Amino acid sequence: MNPYEYVEAHQHEFLEELKEWLRMPSISTLSQHKPDLLRAAEWARQQLESIGLTRVELFPTAGNPVVYGEWLEAGKNAPTVLIYGHYDVQPADDPSKQWKSKPFEPEIRDGNLYARGATDDKGQTLTQIKAVQSLLAAGQLPVNVKFVIEGEEESGSDHLYPFVEQHLDLLKADVLVVSDTGMMGLDRPSIVVSLRGIVSMEFEVRGPSHDLHSGLYGGMVHNPAQALVEIMAAMHRPDGKVAVPGFYDKVRELSGVERAEIAQNPITVERFKEETGAPQPWGEPNYSMQERAGTRPTFEINGIVGGWTGEGGKTVIPEKAVAKVSCRLVAEQDPVEIFELIQRYLAEITPSTVTSSVRLLHKGMWSLVDTQSLYMQAAVRAFEYGFGKRPIFMREGGSIPIMGFMQEKLNAPVVLMGFGLPDDNLHGPNEKYCLECFARGMKTAIYFLHSLGTRG
Ligand code: BES
Ligand code: ZN
Repeated sequence: MNPYEYVEAHQHEFLEELKEWLRMPSISTLSQHKPDLLRAAEWARQQLESIGLTRVELFPTAGNPVVYGEWLEAGKNAPTVLIYGHYDVQPADDPSKQWKSKPFEPEIRDGNLYARGATDDKGQTLTQIKAVQSLLAAGQLPVNVKFVIEGEEESGSDHLYPFVEQHLDLLKADVLVVSDTGMMGLDRPSIVVSLRGIVSMEFEVRGPSHDLHSGLYGGMVHNPAQALVEIMAAMHRPDGKVAVPGFYDKVRELSGVERAEIAQNPITVERFKEETGAPQPWGEPNYSMQERAGTRPTFEINGIVGGWTGEGGKTVIPEKAVAKVSCRLVAEQDPVEIFELIQRYLAEITPSTVTSSVRLLHKGMWSLVDTQSLYMQAAVRAFEYGFGKRPIFMREGGSIPIMGFMQEKLNAPVVLMGFGLPDDNLHGPNEKYCLECFARGMKTAIYFLHSLGTRG
């Protein structure tokens, strides 16, 4: 049986396995889910063992364990491919009750598998694992393969940084393959060629030492919730540009050629409305929508709390208010430098009637893919085989915090072999993975690995 026939023959079984993994609510941002993270890691370890890797290990870290596996039987002259994925997922909270089926009870509807983590990233990681399994089962894996599957991607990969640093030899590879991004459509295959960096922060504004009656004190105390929104409002200029001095200083401007390339695949206002449900696009003037999301930095409020938000009213002046914020960064911005600029600006604009502070939560570098590497060329042919059309290159606005760091430390080119679709709803309600993407993704990954070993 060749590897493609193997996939065909085992599709049902693969899907059942994916469902099993998806039932584990491995949410890395919520500490009460620690046991689920351990279960999900252990599941991945067993999975790697069962497909026939020769060395499989669970590395404990100060955070969630790193799952490692390798098969190096192709020998010293064959290339080594390091495949990265993550077993942690985002929370599935649903304030407006929009999940049609429960987030951790995977369900198949109209050709899609619905569950938190379906596309991001258990489904995509398993796509790679199953491609390797099929090649191994067929006795046709021509390259060495290593897996690193982490459990903290959605919370900044804090403990993966030291792990990578301490295991450079173990992780040494010729190319880094990641299935944790998306493409434009089943009939519009594309390969992501850049990711944005990120710096996440928590702002706090404090006023009185305790909540006050707003009747007794309202009018003579600067309300911290009000001060916080005033500060937040000052972070953007009216035209949509970030107002923090120096914020854009290091941003590399796009060349005419780059802009023309990006313009070939515009996001229409219609598609924008359909995907987001928002009434109108918004953003930095003089940049198209896809330039804004793929190539420009942002300052985004992710959440804001303070005072009474429960049922009914409570007339208080809160003692403090908090905002969670993250900035998406692009080449050549440095997350720590940007954090310091923000910290300085915050101090400047905070009125003396309140106090303020900002704390860095986590950070990640942007990363750029070398589209000329022989591995990217192989990926282009693999997508062509798997999806029946030559893929186009696209810039992506999301982040995979460890990627830039791994690329640099391992000195290896990266291939972002993403199989997600624009309507997969990652991080939102009704996250899904399209079954066709699963099947075609395996085909693509098999072709890719196979072609690396059989080249000249
Ligand atoms: N898979 C995503 C990143 C992504 C999404 C890349 C869509 C390209 C297209 C990843 O798991 C993710 O969501 N990362 C977080 C990282 C953050 C929490 C540090 C992100 O981008 O918000
Ligand atoms: Zn994610």
